[in-house]
Amino acid sequence: MNVLLLGSGGREHALAWRLSQSPLCAALYIAPGNAGTATYGTNLAVDPNDFDAVRQLVLDNNVRLVVCGPEEPLVRGLQDYFSTDEELKAVYLIGPSKEAARLEGSKAYAKAFMQEYDIPTAAYRRFTAEEAADGEDYLASRKGPFVLKADGLAAGKGVVIVDGVEEAKRELRAMLGGKFGEASSKVVVEDFLNGTEFSVFVLTDGKSYRILPVAKDYKRAGAGDTGPNTGGMGSVSHPPFVDADLLRKVEQAIIQPTLHGIQARKLDYRGFIFIGLIVVDGEPFVIEYNCRLGDPETQSVLARLDNDLMQLLLETAEGGLTGAVIKMDDRQAATVVLTSGGYPGDYEKGKVITGMDEVTDSMVFHAGTQLDEQDRLVTSGGRVLSVTSYGATIGEALQRCYASAERIQFEGKTYRSDIGFDL
Ligand code: AMP
Ligand code: GLY
Repeated sequence: MNVLLLGSGGREHALAWRLSQSPLCAALYIAPGNAGTATYGTNLAVDPNDFDAVRQLVLDNNVRLVVCGPEEPLVRGLQDYFSTDEELKAVYLIGPSKEAARLEGSKAYAKAFMQEYDIPTAAYRRFTAEEAADGEDYLASRKGPFVLKADGLAAGKGVVIVDGVEEAKRELRAMLGGKFGEASSKVVVEDFLNGTEFSVFVLTDGKSYRILPVAKDYKRAGAGDTGPNTGGMGSVSHPPFVDADLLRKVEQAIIQPTLHGIQARKLDYRGFIFIGLIVVDGEPFVIEYNCRLGDPETQSVLARLDNDLMQLLLETAEGGLTGAVIKMDDRQAATVVLTSGGYPGDYEKGKVITGMDEVTDSMVFHAGTQLDEQDRLVTSGGRVLSVTSYGATIGEALQRCYASAERIQFEGKTYRSDIGFDL
């Protein structure tokens, strides 16, 4: 069966690696892909948000399975585009419908969903520009720190956390006034939860579900979880504080009611649910839902997932996950992201990358890379590469990541040297 993978990051390189290992995968196409995905299939210069171009690519290449890496095409309705097109409706697409993807695409929708199905999450209210004064009164009635979230997708930047109430009021006005464009025309104000974050990935066919390896990512740019938020600077799987008892609570209090809500609302959901969680005094709370896998969590998660990924995805699309048994590698996995100096702010591109051949103990997944006119591998983005390693312990896996990270060279190379510091 021919497969099309949408996206271009480290997550997609890891997906391409696993998909291409399956005997069920005949040809793999990646749109647009990166220099790494090209080693597992054929990159095609198509924007995943250009649905007509994706359609043509699917038809021209007899694609039967489409795996959508990023959220944006799903939030914009790619699944609905497929299911209402005569020639595409028999093609399997991994990812929820537009309505179901609102679990990620609208924070207010997600919070109302959690409230309706009794899923533990921080107390909240949501406000529009007309309700700004009510919003200020609400802020004055709560204790800080204050968490303000743009309702819509804001490229990972739409969450602002401030300590003082006056600052929170100013921030609320700024957000409702268009700080994040249309995305912050509605703002969710929620209580701050003080705890430890982790991520659970669920694969669902809409009825049954399977839990994939658990991960923790490191979003802040600086050591000790300081500095600005990024797309993610590293990840580990399995975070040791997520013991069987905590995972059982997550399954019973969060995953099962989430699936119940999806069914009760008749949402068409065949794909990944990435649940961002925080554990406070031993109890898990949902921070956010995403309708896709995480980056760089996927690199560590897929390293440990020992199933034929393509078979799992076909079972997901066909509604046959009930019989699936998730197999996990006994080893631990860790990922360290190498970034361009200055990321997540401004950074330079086009820096030549060397030393990749000297990495023997790790897998190196590409993200912001490309080949220049002289066929040299050069940087082309903020997150350039992610280095993923196995180990008997997370510490051992990280040691291997760091030894490999030292062997790779490019001007401005930066990485966090304390991934896993808190475990
Ligand atoms: P989100 O986009 O909703 O995942 O939020 C981005 C980041 O903000 C999360 O990864 C958390 O670190 C932080 N955050 C979001 N909501 C809360 C909350 N209610 N309490 C504490 N931290 C939060
Ligand atoms: N690493 C966080 C995310 O993919 O959203």
